[in-house]
Amino acid sequence: MKKSFIILSISLIAFACSHKTTPATTAVKEEVKNKEESATVSHEQFLEGKALSLTYCTKCHAEKNPNRGNMAQWDKWLDKMAPKAKISDEQKMKIRDYISVNAKSM
Ligand code: HEC
Repeated sequence: MKKSFIILSISLIAFACSHKTTPATTAVKEEVKNKEESATVSHEQFLEGKALSLTYCTKCHAEKNPNRGNMAQWDKWLDKMAPKAKISDEQKMKIRDYISVNAKSM
């Protein structure tokens, strides 16, 4: 009886030690960083458009992610939203440039 208890204890300890804790897989989620310039839009243009977007396009809803659609979709959305936001065509084009940097490709 005593012997079997010892054997049991030893095997339990051996079992416990055999299970090496798997290293916590540090989920280094590669953050999908939004670009801040493109071949056609400079960093300055990007920042200007972003500022306009944050000023005029966040009055009624949170800013929409440029990545939610391609430019064909965005042109429709911008045509619909520009009058709501009461922005000039020039401001609209600047916001469009800003969006184009991170919009989906067609
Ligand atoms: C006066 C309020 C108002 C302003 C300002 C405004 N929006 Fe909107 N927006 C709305 C409302 C309301 C909806 C949801 C209903 C709809 O789709 O018409 C919406 C929806 C959207 C959508 C989703 C459209 C879809 O069909 O999925 C996008 C994208 C968008 N807005 C972008 C913009 C951008 C860019 C600007 C700045 C130029 C802007 N909004 C400014 C009121 C506004």
